[in-house]
Amino acid sequence: MRSRMVAASDTVFFSGHTMKVAGFFLLGLASVFSVQRDNFRTCDNVGFCKRHRALEPGTSSYAASASSMKLNPTSVSLDVLEKKSDVKFTLTIFGLKDNTFRIRLEEKDAMRKRYEPPVGDVLIKVPEGEELKYNGQSGNQLTFNKGTSRVVLTTEPLRIDVYSDDDPVISINSQGLLKFEHTRPKPGWVSWLSSTLYSWFSPPFREAPPAENQDEENKEEAQEGEEEQQKEEEVKEEEVKAEPEEPDMWEETFKSHTDSKPFGPTSIGVDISFPGVEHVYGIPEHADSLALKTTKTTDPYRLYNLDVFEYDLYNPMALYGAVPLMLAHNEKRTVGVFWLNAAETWVDISSNVADKSIFSNLADFVTGNNEIPQTDTHWFSESGVIDVFLMLGPGPKDVFRQYAALTGTTPLPPLFSISYHQCRWNYNDQDDVRTVDENFDKFDIPYDVIWLDIEHTDGKRYFTWDAAKFPNSIEMLRNISSKGRKMVTIVDPHLKRDDNYKVFAEARDKGLLIKNKDGGDFDGWCWPGSSGWPDFLEKHVRDWWADKFSASEYVGSAPNLYVWNDMNEPSVFNAPEITVNRDIKHLGGWENREVHNIYGMYVHEATMDGLLKRTNYQERAFVLTRAFFAGTQRTAAVWTGDNMGEWSHLKISNPMIMSLNLVGITFSGADVGGFFRNPDNELVTRWYQAGAFQPFFRAHAHLDTKRREPYLLPDENVKVIREAIRARYTYLPYWYTEFFTSEKDGAAVMRPLWVEFPKEKATFGIDDNYMIGSALLVRPVTDQGATNANVYFPGAGEVWYDVETYQTYKGQQEVNVQAPLSKIPVYQKGGTIIPRKMRPRRSSTLMFDDPFTLVVALDPKQEANGQLFIDDYRTFKYRDGAYGFIKYSFTSHKLHSNVEHQGSGFTTKEWLERVIVVGLPHEPRKVTLHQSGQTKELIFTYDSTTHVLIIRKPGVNILQNWTISLH
Ligand code: GLC
Repeated sequence: MRSRMVAASDTVFFSGHTMKVAGFFLLGLASVFSVQRDNFRTCDNVGFCKRHRALEPGTSSYAASASSMKLNPTSVSLDVLEKKSDVKFTLTIFGLKDNTFRIRLEEKDAMRKRYEPPVGDVLIKVPEGEELKYNGQSGNQLTFNKGTSRVVLTTEPLRIDVYSDDDPVISINSQGLLKFEHTRPKPGWVSWLSSTLYSWFSPPFREAPPAENQDEENKEEAQEGEEEQQKEEEVKEEEVKAEPEEPDMWEETFKSHTDSKPFGPTSIGVDISFPGVEHVYGIPEHADSLALKTTKTTDPYRLYNLDVFEYDLYNPMALYGAVPLMLAHNEKRTVGVFWLNAAETWVDISSNVADKSIFSNLADFVTGNNEIPQTDTHWFSESGVIDVFLMLGPGPKDVFRQYAALTGTTPLPPLFSISYHQCRWNYNDQDDVRTVDENFDKFDIPYDVIWLDIEHTDGKRYFTWDAAKFPNSIEMLRNISSKGRKMVTIVDPHLKRDDNYKVFAEARDKGLLIKNKDGGDFDGWCWPGSSGWPDFLEKHVRDWWADKFSASEYVGSAPNLYVWNDMNEPSVFNAPEITVNRDIKHLGGWENREVHNIYGMYVHEATMDGLLKRTNYQERAFVLTRAFFAGTQRTAAVWTGDNMGEWSHLKISNPMIMSLNLVGITFSGADVGGFFRNPDNELVTRWYQAGAFQPFFRAHAHLDTKRREPYLLPDENVKVIREAIRARYTYLPYWYTEFFTSEKDGAAVMRPLWVEFPKEKATFGIDDNYMIGSALLVRPVTDQGATNANVYFPGAGEVWYDVETYQTYKGQQEVNVQAPLSKIPVYQKGGTIIPRKMRPRRSSTLMFDDPFTLVVALDPKQEANGQLFIDDYRTFKYRDGAYGFIKYSFTSHKLHSNVEHQGSGFTTKEWLERVIVVGLPHEPRKVTLHQSGQTKELIFTYDSTTHVLIIRKPGVNILQNWTISLH
């Protein structure tokens, strides 16, 4: 294999890929390596991880003071004392709309402010409060009610139990693992120096955001309270008792890198338990199973955005992105916990049995089992405050909505972006692009977007072109645009340090670059060699970046050019763990350790803003990102980075993308074919079949791999891949409708089976079958040589139809189905209606006006329902109502089209060319269409072995009400 070479002054890192620096090609250095594990810290060499993990469950030394309680209409706050150190904290419990609570714990008299993502950046707004009623004290327990939920706060030792409809659902600090490392002066002779440092560098140069979700009234009350308290404290101020210091609290070394920790230890952590729950999910990104595993014998799951070369599977190592959201699920309910923190975070998971002495009233819904299962989790972050959102569902889709209300949803992607993307590192020049484009047409394979990787630039200077290879990019873009096609170019956030490179020189001269710990511009290595990184945390830097995408700045671009942001963790080849040093300084005064996981999101947000600005926010755009955080879903699609062309990586793509979908990142996918290595024809073919039924569908390959554009494969494979890509295009109306509804409700588009069948325990551990929306069940074949596949058909009483043969399967059973190379096991649920477009075209743009086919799959009651969203497929006009939304229902032998919405003068040429009714036991005598008082007889065919009726040419415009009757 190749390596990403990095020679730091005294260390050599192999971090992936071929790298060309200063004219050297450094090839083959890491030929024998898979992931370079020792490039990455394990818990054992992370001080705060060791400190939190070493805590013994037992009695917590934190106690809340009931007498300090301040009640507000939607929140309550209390003083908390850590009794060993005498440090004071403020605990606030907020009642939020839609079955949600928020719990915050902050240090009272901190020496330095702690970072919290500004409202608007992760949280889309201050969450709306809902009345929290104090229900009195009994012993050392205070109870607060909100709707049908309640919070019981035990003052000493501090513990919070949340009940929903009388069932305990979440407990915080019931294990007593709360640990909040308070700010402190450096001990010993340097203490004066450290206080001086504090006063120089802290509080961070700008005010930290105000405590959120208090309305004005609450804020005033809180302020008054604080003033009083301060007076009291001035009188009885006590010295903070010394705590034992550990060697890595003020400085930590990893390999040859020393992390100066001028502010000392600042970590926070607490345990969160889910009584009654055996299955927890989420907290991507990890190359692991969908249901998270216990971490007794491994490291905790790590969340720290990192560029991991040739990542290993089935382990909790951190990858490129982080969303600290976990879902806990059992037959009765789903809850979510969102740990709002942008610093490095670790999560331990263990299984346990619920503490029945505390939960004497725990509903024993786990029948036949005296032991009530429980999952204990332990979360800890390097800095920040404890700020946890508890979403109480009760169903998975309720949790999606509750989380969406906090961090937003994926806006409807333009149609081209959910079509097929052809990428490779690299398409070498304009001729190469033209040849690939022509070959897709020659071989009748649709595609929408061709991508250019880093080699298209002038020496890895983004926003430029290699003039010899791409002398006329505008012409190239115009050529593909004539077939409705687009291009994506890569724009990474590292800027080559070159005085003659305008973008870098400007960023440096305007002071937009992140700083090293001593205040100079941070200098690190990435693809172009020595580079600087704009500080995307700053709004003015993001605005500056966004302007770089205008036609006048990005010379040689065109409106059909979109962007790929890579290496935005950020990846820095010669820095610890291949990312920026933790003690580098952002312009607002924060250290990277405080904001690390959010940086990448700001990069792609700025990019998206730039693309939208080009059309004055009229046309929708597309950005792909590798690094991500909570909120990424609002501005970018995500892919799972540098996977390998191996069967195991194909297999893991399903749980990885499902995990992203569970945390709102619905528009996600994996490199089809695998990035590294040369997959054989069978693997490439199977990967296309899987990718065709995953939300983001892009083939990509490493620079050193053999060419593998689908038409280069043997005829047999070309045929199968063509069919798979075409299948994707036929289902575009269904995907598009799902993305539209998901923009509203935040629901996963690619769903684990338990999301649709939450009571069916057999589905909880399944991660090789999944649903797209509520109608399609997919079971991609991910095993070499397989000609069969085990499909789990969920749902007692449901019926499922093979979408090609219409063979039926009953729900709640596993079936071994035939799956030769040509077969993608995909099934439509009885009771659903799916809109499709069946005419093969070269790109999705050429399908805009094409007619629809409705596939009506009947349930055992001979009924079905479905829906269709249509608009202009590219602009934001749907937000002003310029779209059509049609509901379909089949009952009593009649199919009804009911236009639920047609607004702002929206019309369409699209029409209905065919209706396929599946699962109809008898041939009708006659089929008629009724519309506006007129009746017309329709021609049809009926197959009595498959029980499929095909009604031809109803011919109606799709945006009309009508009824088709079977007589
Ligand atoms: C990173 C990306 C990969 C890309 C390469 C060159 O490894 O993950 O997709 O091709 O960089 O830009």
